[in-house]
Amino acid sequence: QQPLSVAMIGYGTVGRGVAQLLHEQAELYTQRTGRAITLAKVLVRDTAKALAAGGIDESLLTNDADEFFATDAEVVIEVAGGIDPVGGFVRRALEAGKHVITANKSLLAKDGPALFALARQHNVSIAFEASIGGGIPCVTALTAGLMANEISGLFGILNGTCNYILTQMTQHGESYADALQGAKEKGYAEADETLDVSGADAAQKLAVLASLAYGVNIGEDDVPCHGIDTLDLDDVRFGDELGFDIKLIASAERWPGQPYIALNTAPCFIPKAEQLAQVHGSFNALSVVGHAVGHTMFYGRGAGQGPTASAIVSDLLNVACGAYPLAFANLQLTPDLHDPAPLVEP
Ligand code: NDP
Ligand code: HSE
Repeated sequence: QQPLSVAMIGYGTVGRGVAQLLHEQAELYTQRTGRAITLAKVLVRDTAKALAAGGIDESLLTNDADEFFATDAEVVIEVAGGIDPVGGFVRRALEAGKHVITANKSLLAKDGPALFALARQHNVSIAFEASIGGGIPCVTALTAGLMANEISGLFGILNGTCNYILTQMTQHGESYADALQGAKEKGYAEADETLDVSGADAAQKLAVLASLAYGVNIGEDDVPCHGIDTLDLDDVRFGDELGFDIKLIASAERWPGQPYIALNTAPCFIPKAEQLAQVHGSFNALSVVGHAVGHTMFYGRGAGQGPTASAIVSDLLNVACGAYPLAFANLQLTPDLHDPAPLVEP
């Protein structure tokens, strides 16, 4: 079979992890897919910075989008983040008939349905396992493994940075500011960490998951959102004395026979004996409740270089095997959340 040529936007925490996996596991991936995978071009803003980070040949780097798109790559991996200009790059790739793999939940929570439609129109796939839950294959679980189910609820811990901060405060008595600094140094936090601590990142992930679960176009603005940025050690100690840990919980519920979907992201007191209270550090956990399967739970590292690169490269290998588009790519999300009936509880 022909080699699979891949181009990548971004060479930060995640991009470097992807390049490293592709280099170190080349033989295994060829064995699994029957195709050699080659990294043809990497687009960044600052090529000198990327080169200094190591692990990449200078000839692969460019800061010129036109040069990047002139590359004859079948797949574009987007690990840059943000809406503008990156959303335009993703559209350009899809319109050029390239499969897209992205970790960008901000973009999906804003423009997911339009991007899915564009991918369908050009008969290519858009895969985004890395955008939610880091290395946990929860998007695949929800859209493939649990496809037979009506989903009554999904809830859990979807932001590794917040969970790391809360763990450091609870278990090590670290201040909020020091714990946030640790999350940044470990590569868990967004380039703009206010997205994490305000709860926006978890709300974006919940919007994407709930859209997939309920077949409705749910955007970030539809999710009431409170973060952990107003908490301090007194809140943690107060909960601890009463037998609770604080966790940032994102939840979506649709009660049987009701048209409403209840959405929320907020810090919650969780009894220490509960499973969710045992989720520490950068780990995430997502519970999905289906009418036939009952309660399922997915758990693992929700942020960081290795786990996120694992999800990106797994999507890539599936594309290489021709396993995409997933069945859900045919899902037509209702364009308006409030049509025909109000679906978010007033
Ligand atoms: P970083 O900030 O570490 O890296 C971002 C990279 O993208 C840099 O190489 C940057 O280049 C490049 N970039 C940013 N904007 C542009 C642009 N306009 N044009 C070209 N290149 C650009 O981010 P991460 O690697 O941590 O995250 C990347 C994406 O993955 C984000 O969408 C994030 O939400 C998502 N993600 C991250 C996880 C994590 O644990 N870190 C986990 C799951 C998802 P330069 O340095 O030159 O500006
Ligand atoms: N900043 C995100 C988090 C990265 O901490 O969960 C993973 O999406």
